[in-house]
Amino acid sequence: MLPNPVPPGPFPSGFLFGTATASYQIEGAAREGGRGPSIWDTYSHTQGKVYRGDTGDIACDHYHRLDSDLDLLSWLGCGTYRFSIAWPRVLPAGHGPVNQQGLDFYKRLLDGLHRRGIVPMVTLYHWDLPQPLQDTGGWQSRDTAGRFGDYAAAVAAALGDLVPLWVTLNEPWCSAFAGHLYGRHAPGLTDLTAALRAAHYLMLGHGYACQALRAGHGGGQVGIALNLTDVAPASADPGDAAAAARMDGHQNRWFLDPILRGEYPKDLLAWYAERADVSFAAGGDLPRVAQPLDILGINFYEGHTIAAGDDDPVHSAKRLPPAGPVTHSGLAIEPAGLTNVLRRAHDDYGPIPLYVTENGACFNDYADPEGGVDDFERVDYLSGYFGAAAEAIRHGVDLRGYYVWSLLDNFEWSYGYSRRFGLVYVDYRTQDRVPKRSAHWYRDLIATHSARSRGTERAT
Ligand code: FCB
Repeated sequence: MLPNPVPPGPFPSGFLFGTATASYQIEGAAREGGRGPSIWDTYSHTQGKVYRGDTGDIACDHYHRLDSDLDLLSWLGCGTYRFSIAWPRVLPAGHGPVNQQGLDFYKRLLDGLHRRGIVPMVTLYHWDLPQPLQDTGGWQSRDTAGRFGDYAAAVAAALGDLVPLWVTLNEPWCSAFAGHLYGRHAPGLTDLTAALRAAHYLMLGHGYACQALRAGHGGGQVGIALNLTDVAPASADPGDAAAAARMDGHQNRWFLDPILRGEYPKDLLAWYAERADVSFAAGGDLPRVAQPLDILGINFYEGHTIAAGDDDPVHSAKRLPPAGPVTHSGLAIEPAGLTNVLRRAHDDYGPIPLYVTENGACFNDYADPEGGVDDFERVDYLSGYFGAAAEAIRHGVDLRGYYVWSLLDNFEWSYGYSRRFGLVYVDYRTQDRVPKRSAHWYRDLIATHSARSRGTERAT
């Protein structure tokens, strides 16, 4: 056995250690409990969209294994847990009457967390848009933004008292651009105008949802989870620098600026205006988009080194292959990138309490003949990234917590079940859960910082 690296830290007292999941990736029970279809059901059931035709129909069967999965969180010693509510479980048609069975499931989940002394962070939208709303325009339609606000109000009315931390949207960049420009996520479009409109109405929906959550009576803190990328130019060449600025605008500022400053970044808006219809930007929606936020969630997975080029024709940019070690999905392992994005969010858009709402990696994990899963690569990875978070805190960043993606191996979108991100290994044939070496490492890290009791006091 290889020795584990020195535990990272220190972390401030009250720092919340957690894990994150998402409804479509773990719940399964796709046609049970009154749940309606989502765009990911449609997409995953469309031939050729997901690796080997995998779907989320069964996933980790979390819907039926709720209590034992929550016990895993207790075993880890997590002070917090981030999960998402499936809009089509609560409102099967996307609007109209609520499905009480759906709300009951999440009530049971929230009660189970509170009983275990674990602070819930609830994401309202982790990509599973009700299919009926896609059929009437999806995120390209202004109407969907209003519907999202209504859904947030319904959830807040039923569950608001149990939720101290809200995240409206998970990674709107992925919904908008992976889903409408690059075509690798549902709904699978490849059209720049569609992507930009979707980004806009996602952000407007976020604004409506913030207002609805605040109008509810729970008093929970409200934020959003953005996937930020650490972008660097490949050289001092002005062409590379301009391409890197465009990719930074595309990946980061296109969402940060409207949400936290109430304006689109002018350089990118001018660039897009030459290539797409950006009339939505002049519609007077930005004050509603820019609701004051209590917290900002950052999902961090990668840094990009960018040169001028045509690999991404929309942005006239090219991404250089990583020079150092990579994960199973080929993403660079560069912990300093996390320090950079945290410091930037704090310096340029703060001060605002930050959470790492997702970070983690997939490796080629397997159960060995003794039944163990020795993912020493993930231990090294997490050790480096938690160290990078501690470094940001030393620079004055107000980082309140960190959610490892993910509690369980799960349905990794268009990669299906071929990418394992869990601290806990899932044998999909039997649904057995096996804590990996990294789960034991994380448990020790949390115990060392005895975050659990202090964390619960702070966020409740
Ligand atoms: C993020 C998603 C999450 C998971 C991780 C690996 O972009 O938010 O659902 O797929 O990547």
